[in-house]
Amino acid sequence: MSLPVYLYGHPVLRRISKTVEPSYKGLKELVEKMFDTMYESEGVGLAAPQIGLNDRIVVIDADPVAESFPECAGRKFTLINPEIEILEGAPTSHAEGCLSLPGLSENVNRVEHIRLRWVDADFQPHEEEISGFLARIVQHECDHLEGKLYIDHISPIRKQLIRAKLRNIVAGKIRCDYPVRYAPKQK
Ligand code: NI
Repeated sequence: MSLPVYLYGHPVLRRISKTVEPSYKGLKELVEKMFDTMYESEGVGLAAPQIGLNDRIVVIDADPVAESFPECAGRKFTLINPEIEILEGAPTSHAEGCLSLPGLSENVNRVEHIRLRWVDADFQPHEEEISGFLARIVQHECDHLEGKLYIDHISPIRKQLIRAKLRNIVAGKIRCDYPVRYAPKQK
């Protein structure tokens, strides 16, 4: 069962998410629903704020982009309470999109190499060094847990250029192929 994706302008996307405790009720069912939602909307990652929950949960399946980015082949993650350590390397720029910002894509600078620590849905700890586009996806999704969106990383000029598109998303004046939830109407 998939869930509606909360769109840009909704305050839930701007809050800092809470640490998930082992006592969290229904975590595995929620993770399944997040994967369903991600696949239905043809995304390669989804963070809990995007389904309206400020909890530190991310799902990723990067395999669909493996043709362009071989490091993504077969890489599927359930990240609970993920932590990123930036490793050395100059940032690179590449286009990103986000299910909460339909119809938009902008180049974003991100570091190429990270060390990622997380627990899975059974609260087993993991640690891995990740590079390339996979590291980009992880950084994008973990940003959501801090209330950040990729457009926060673009220049003021680029932001100005997409202002009308952003306004349309907030106003609900867009077409989207997957179920969405718009920002509450401003009074
Ligand atoms: Ni996103």
